[in-house]
Amino acid sequence: MIGLIGLIRRIGRIAATLAAAALAASAAEPEKGPLPHVPREIIIERGLTELEKSCIECHSKQEPGKVHDWEQSPHARANVTCLDCHRARGTDKDAMDCPGTKGKPDVKITPIVSPAKCARCHPREGQEFAKSKHARTWDIMTKEIKDPWLRGMNNEIERATGCLSCHGSDISDGKLTAENWPNQGVGRLNPDGSKGSCVACHTTHRFDIAEARKPENCGQCHMGPDHPQDEIYFESKHGKIYLAEKDKWNFEAAPDAWEPHKDFRAPTCAACHMSGLGPLATTHDVGERLKWEAQLPALVKNKDHDPDAARKKMATVCVQCHSPRWANNYLARYDKAMDNYGENYFKPAKATMDDLYAKKLLTAWPIFDEEIEFVYYELWHNEGRRARMGAAMMGPDFAWWHGFYELKKHYNKFVHLAEKVKKDGHGSPVFVPGAGGKNLTPAESAPFPEAWQPIKGLLGVPAAK
Ligand code: HEC
Ligand code: HEC
Ligand code: HEC
Ligand code: HEC
Ligand code: HEC
Ligand code: HEC
Ligand code: HEC
Ligand code: HEC
Repeated sequence: MIGLIGLIRRIGRIAATLAAAALAASAAEPEKGPLPHVPREIIIERGLTELEKSCIECHSKQEPGKVHDWEQSPHARANVTCLDCHRARGTDKDAMDCPGTKGKPDVKITPIVSPAKCARCHPREGQEFAKSKHARTWDIMTKEIKDPWLRGMNNEIERATGCLSCHGSDISDGKLTAENWPNQGVGRLNPDGSKGSCVACHTTHRFDIAEARKPENCGQCHMGPDHPQDEIYFESKHGKIYLAEKDKWNFEAAPDAWEPHKDFRAPTCAACHMSGLGPLATTHDVGERLKWEAQLPALVKNKDHDPDAARKKMATVCVQCHSPRWANNYLARYDKAMDNYGENYFKPAKATMDDLYAKKLLTAWPIFDEEIEFVYYELWHNEGRRARMGAAMMGPDFAWWHGFYELKKHYNKFVHLAEKVKKDGHGSPVFVPGAGGKNLTPAESAPFPEAWQPIKGLLGVPAAK
């Protein structure tokens, strides 16, 4: 199925990856050096050491599925073995023994395979991913946004089963507990200091590029009431064409040689946000083609990349299949929908909240002890995002019925609640049980979680003025 150009590019890629792998290995001192893996001889000699064979043989009894997946993978074809990914230095926080390494003091293993390990052989993907919001999400959540949920609004088990399963857990101390492991969230904090997890998208042990290109891959996290990109995609014409025709498409083409029309007829998430199409190179920084930060409450343009250059890149994706007028008009329509959301809904709602806080009619703890605070949150976080993302990605049902329609309906409720607060002279704070748990450091979290203590006594009574 791979065309001649694809084949040539693929061979070039493999050579480049192998060279990177060899370089990574040659930088390593075999046993006690600074880097944990010693793949060089293996790759060059194309043979396996006894030790490497032992891993495969024993584990094919322990986890036959994993070894079978590995056998089908590009890694097995290139003689990248279990040890290349799972070897640890004795001094690593996560170093451990398994039955196969007991009694071999020079060999330690770890179940954690961080992006830094992958990046030794895939440096470009590693660097791009590290720059992305995917890898940086822990810092974004805790330092930039100071997300109130992480400041004591919910507890450890709620975070472990929810937030951190998508965003990534903290395993930086190398101790794997029921709360933090297993976890393949995009921004996991790893013991070696690297961030994220490549297997958020490239499931082990197949590392199949075809799987990564399909929308179901992204949909595991990009779904639900607050970022329903998956639902939007599958309701869009692009998604419908994918569903109808994907069996006839070629998802295996080499990177940068996956060609619209020849290999696929409608774009997937990866095609628009990551793949190398036309003059665009593949990118592992999913922010590179965005003009807006539509996840935020207010109207903000891309903070990580030049917004206009990013927009040009996205339009370049579209014109692989559409005319420039079609593409540019559609994207300009999205900009107008952003303005509509910002001017007509977010600005007045925010002004109302600012006023209630300034008059001390609501408790100072910024959110979620009073009903109006939930309604305000959902205005921007749920229906406000749905309206914007439906407009961005050809999902009219989300732009209107789950989006602007709901914004109008809840804006109505919001105004009534605000009037009631003003009439009563106070809100009705309620302490929701189950908050707390291990929170951010006091410096990052002030005034939480101590702030919750007084609320406990405020069940349904006026806030202190
Ligand atoms: C290309 C790198 C790579 C290679 C090669 C590789 N693994 Fe893994 N393995 C991973 C990653 C990534 C994970 C998931 C860990 C994580 O999220 O950090 C994993 C997880 C595992 C787990 C625990 C996961 C579970 O579902 O229980 C076992 C066991 C394992 N690997 C065994 C093996 C064996 C045996 C081989 C050789 C046949 C092998 N691995 C080869 C990258 C690799
Ligand atoms: C004699 C059989 C045997 C051999 C040889 C062997 N292993 Fe294991 N390995 C196991 C068993 C059994 C476990 C599960 C141990 C446990 O968790 O109690 C395990 C656990 C692991 C885990 C951790 C899985 C987890 O989720 O904690 C990794 C990674 C791993 N082995 C990699 C390797 C590598 C790499 C080699 C080659 C150096 C190797 N194993 C050789 C039997 C073996
Ligand atoms: C020791 C070097 C080495 C390590 C470590 C390694 N890889 Fe690879 N990887 C390779 C080689 C060599 C290939 C085959 C080259 C090719 O097909 O482009 C490959 C291929 C791939 C492919 C398929 C590319 C394609 O074009 O089909 C993916 C995806 C991938 N690796 C992801 C990972 C991830 C994720 C990790 C870490 C969990 C990892 N690799 C760790 C060397 C490595
Ligand atoms: C189902 C997976 C999933 C869960 C569960 C989840 N998130 Fe998210 N979160 C996402 C995705 C996907 C985005 C990106 C939305 C976008 O850009 O449109 C996101 C965006 C965010 C952002 C905005 C980041 C920015 O750059 O502005 C924050 C903060 C956040 N989430 C925090 C949390 C917290 C805290 C929780 C738990 C209370 C949580 N998330 C639960 C997937 C999830
Ligand atoms: C957000 C999902 C996602 C994450 C996270 C991710 N990848 Fe990928 N990766 C993809 C997609 C999609 C492709 C296919 C791009 C295309 O169409 O050519 C890909 C392609 C690749 C390839 C093939 C060569 C190329 O660059 O196209 C390699 C190698 C690879 N990824 C390695 C990694 C490594 C290493 C990491 C972690 C540092 C990683 N990926 C993290 C989605 C992801
Ligand atoms: C394991 C969960 C997970 C998977 C899988 C995942 N994402 Fe994300 N994605 C997130 C989270 C969490 C964020 C929000 C990060 C932040 O802003 O803090 C995000 C943010 C984004 C953003 C916004 C980036 C920005 O700079 O504003 C885009 C675009 C995106 N993802 C696209 C994709 C695509 C395309 C795929 C599949 C190829 C994918 N994601 C797979 C969890 C995931
Ligand atoms: C036809 C191309 C296309 C497809 C297919 C597509 N997107 Fe998008 N996506 C866009 C455009 C255009 C935007 C708005 C970009 C901007 O800010 O100018 C966008 C915005 C986003 C955002 C919001 C980023 C932000 O501002 O916070 C996320 C997240 C995202 N897409 C993820 C996905 C996921 C996941 C899928 C698949 C389920 C997908 N996209 C499918 C074109 C596409
Ligand atoms: C791989 C090719 C391909 C790419 C890339 C692509 N599209 Fe499409 N798009 C299609 C096809 C095919 C259709 C169906 C055309 C038809 O019915 O005539 C379509 C339909 C549409 C529609 C009509 C939706 C409807 O509900 O009627 C819009 C709008 C659209 N695309 C916008 C875009 C935008 C904007 C981009 C870039 C962000 C883009 N497309 C990228 C192939 C593509």
